[in-house]
Amino acid sequence: MTDPRKIIIDTDPGQDDAAALMLAFASPDELNLLGITTVAGNVPLSYTSRNARIVCELCGQQARAVYEGADRPMVRDLVTAEHVHGKTGLDGAVLPEPTMKVQPQHAVDFIIDTIRREPEGTVTLCTLGPLTNIGLALQKAPDIAPRVRELVMMGGGFFEGGNITPAAEFNIYVDPHAAAAVVGSGIPVTMMPLDVTHQLMTTKARVARIAEIGTKPAATMVEWLQFFERFDEEKYGSDGGPLHDPTVIAYLLKPELFGGRHCNVEIELQSELTVGMTVVDWWRVSGRKPNVQVMRNVDADGFFDLLIERFARL
Ligand code: RIB
Ligand code: CA
Repeated sequence: MTDPRKIIIDTDPGQDDAAALMLAFASPDELNLLGITTVAGNVPLSYTSRNARIVCELCGQQARAVYEGADRPMVRDLVTAEHVHGKTGLDGAVLPEPTMKVQPQHAVDFIIDTIRREPEGTVTLCTLGPLTNIGLALQKAPDIAPRVRELVMMGGGFFEGGNITPAAEFNIYVDPHAAAAVVGSGIPVTMMPLDVTHQLMTTKARVARIAEIGTKPAATMVEWLQFFERFDEEKYGSDGGPLHDPTVIAYLLKPELFGGRHCNVEIELQSELTVGMTVVDWWRVSGRKPNVQVMRNVDADGFFDLLIERFARL
């Protein structure tokens, strides 16, 4: 048994972020979660920091260290997604306000200090929201880039298009400048785009399997998913909605569930029509250097089997 992989989860909970956190909490043999950093995205920072702690306490993880990060993108104004996640970002279930406190250190400084402290090439960054905290950390401490083992992000889209605009996926759209800094940093980046997550629908059958677990965390997740998926069901006319963020953690646990290729990804920053678009050179026509492992295929049944097996451990 190898040592658990050291990770930092940067997140903007969000019901699907909560599912990713729960998957990580349930996998201590494989993952050593050094800390959770929060960022403004789905909802303002005050809510994402509250929500991260709610998920921790729901799962008996009160000892987790939660660090508050950026309350707005690096350059653009903040755009939020209450229309999807509800006013609080965790609408769908009623839970007590958290009692655990956030850490005194800013998330950006926690990221920098952790990467500098841990042996080179041992820390993986798992990003589930806008990349603002990572962009700020790279701006403040460029020396950390070559020390990061891998950055696995939920974000972007190519043949699937966008979800917040026709061209852009939400996490990238909110802070395209931070995303550009990340894909240009030299850090080994693995990208879970909408092309993957739109294959992972929370169908009624899959949600029923989560409900059968019969625990409080599972029952709460069912309530969150039933709220979260209504927007996409109306939009796509689908059975359920795409479950985005747990793909990042599932990739670390079972990479064989996913397939893709190393190609060039650049971020559109200029046009208001396409700002935040991940320009993925899947067919390698640009001659630009590959810089991202872009995932496109996923074993959807294997993904949900993993999710449900791990949720049952909480
Ligand atoms: O576009 C989907 C992404 O945006 C997910 O991370 C979801 O939580 C929202 O942050
Ligand atoms: Ca998210």
